[in-house]
Amino acid sequence: MTKTAKLSLNDQNIDLPVIVGSEGEVGIDISKLRGQTGAITLDPSFANSGACESAITYINGEKGILRYRGYDIADLAEHASFPEVCHLLIYGRLPTRPEREDFRGRLTRHSLVHEDMKKFFEGFPPTTHPMVVLSSMIASLSAFYPGDDTAEEIDLNIIRLLSKAKTLASYSYKKSIGQPFMYPQNDRTYLENFLMMMFGVPAEKYEVNQVVRHALNKLLILHADHEQNCSTTAVRVVGSGGANLFASISAGVSALWGPLHGGANQAVIEMLEMIQADGANYQKYVDLTKSKDSDFKLMGFGHRVYKNFDPRARILKEASDNVLASLGVDDPLLEIAQRLEEVALADSYFVERKLYPNIDFYSGIIYRAMGIPTDMFTVMFALGRLPGWIAHWLEQRNAPGTRINRPRQIYTGETARPWVKLDNR
Ligand code: SDX
Repeated sequence: MTKTAKLSLNDQNIDLPVIVGSEGEVGIDISKLRGQTGAITLDPSFANSGACESAITYINGEKGILRYRGYDIADLAEHASFPEVCHLLIYGRLPTRPEREDFRGRLTRHSLVHEDMKKFFEGFPPTTHPMVVLSSMIASLSAFYPGDDTAEEIDLNIIRLLSKAKTLASYSYKKSIGQPFMYPQNDRTYLENFLMMMFGVPAEKYEVNQVVRHALNKLLILHADHEQNCSTTAVRVVGSGGANLFASISAGVSALWGPLHGGANQAVIEMLEMIQADGANYQKYVDLTKSKDSDFKLMGFGHRVYKNFDPRARILKEASDNVLASLGVDDPLLEIAQRLEEVALADSYFVERKLYPNIDFYSGIIYRAMGIPTDMFTVMFALGRLPGWIAHWLEQRNAPGTRINRPRQIYTGETARPWVKLDNR
């Protein structure tokens, strides 16, 4: 493998160092390019640019490979618990049994949020989207836990965030339906506490449905990290300026909300409901996608990195059948989703553009069957992605030589022009 790339620009010929990753990915290091040539590179959506070196998650988009710290996503989804995956992503390895029990215990004991935070909820209108609540409440945690100078303070804030986010998420749901908030219980695990706070009325009588708990565990693991996606990049950019953990993660929640990113899981269900209302005429919507006169997209299809299949979508497609059958839920949207996938994947428009279902295509079907309302779907995505965001924030904070993220640009506006007095304009 060559150790340098050669660039010829005007009368200059320069060698650029080549970095090769542990899975053989090749990167051309241009960190000294502007100093050597005065030129910059231009890659508006960063599709060809690496922002960092990272040891957290590996994706091979051509082969449909996704691994967290070397472990394959299918193994983790089948065998791990979400707290174990949180530990793996954040600390770099699966916990030993004593470490797992200690970690679980800390996640349970820090579930309560400060009573004063409940006053913040009173100011939101009942129609507030839960993602607004989650983003602002996570940022607000820095008002109650301002210290993040030492490794111990940071680790405690990581536990607080992982643990309180599920409480805040359930409060955002309860707020939206006008029901009282449910307090977490210290004899319940992470998933059981979340489900009880969402659906347990009264709390002490709530019995967790093990099919729902198992499905939730799988969904959170599948969403836990995905290297340099839009929202993780937002977390890294905000964190690079020295912003604290809560402020950086709040930025990630906001970035995730967009319908091209995590907001797609809500948009998929709304699209399937629209197709259902239109006589399940899915061919019409496949044709609409292809029409030059329409900007309609099949939500839940396509991916910047996966060009054969999203391994998470495959796992969720199988899980959706199993979960709905186990819960005795007959959701017509599942049938429409499956037919839509068949029609799309037989159509040259999708095949030529390598558009396949992504993680958001089937996740909403399962959330629905679990009783989670549509506008909470992206909150569920955020709860899953939390350990990944935290892991990347921490990796960047601990990386030697980290600098504030500050890209350059190519200016295309007006060149210098003299001031014109008002009565001459
Ligand atoms: C997530 O990055 C991550 O890892 C994200 C994520 C994670 O875990 O963090 O995996 C989670 O965000 C998944 C994606 C969820 N979004 C959607 O499902 C929204 C629908 N998908 C598209 O908007 C799109 O596919 C993106 C945003 C996912 C990817 O966009 P790209 O890489 O910029 O691709 P593009 O828009 O340039 O599309 C290339 C072509 C275009 O056609 P042409 O101009 O070449 O004719 O494919 C077409 C697009 O019009 N296309 C679609 C389409 N997605 C792309 N056409 C119809 N329906 C779609 N869904």
